[in-house]
Amino acid sequence: MADIRVGRKIDEGTGYGRPPQHVDDELVRVGPGTPCGELMRRYWHPIALTSEATTRPKKIRLLGEDLILFRDRKGRPGLLYPRCMHRGTTLFYGKVEDEGILCCYHGVLFAADGTCLDQPC
Ligand code: FES
Repeated sequence: MADIRVGRKIDEGTGYGRPPQHVDDELVRVGPGTPCGELMRRYWHPIALTSEATTRPKKIRLLGEDLILFRDRKGRPGLLYPRCMHRGTTLFYGKVEDEGILCCYHGVLFAADGTCLDQPC
């Protein structure tokens, strides 16, 4: 049987009858479309060492988003959404070329800034 003092149960798991902890969603959620996430996206963030941006794509998780980091063969770093806009294949298995990253499925070419440069057929 629970003990009740001043109208509250003391076995709520809180110390000294304090109110239970709660998460302030406005401050801790940083995904796209959230207030803090939109604020954080206005600033630069160190996400990897320069040496980690290579012609081999690397998975990065930043502000609740999965991204693909790579460096094209002309030396430009790219950080892209990991899914190809054509059929959603992961760009992690893409082939890095001079101008960007080539989707492994149908061969759409994306520049380091995400611009679609070439679509076969
Ligand atoms: S899924 Fe990437 S080109 Fe088709």
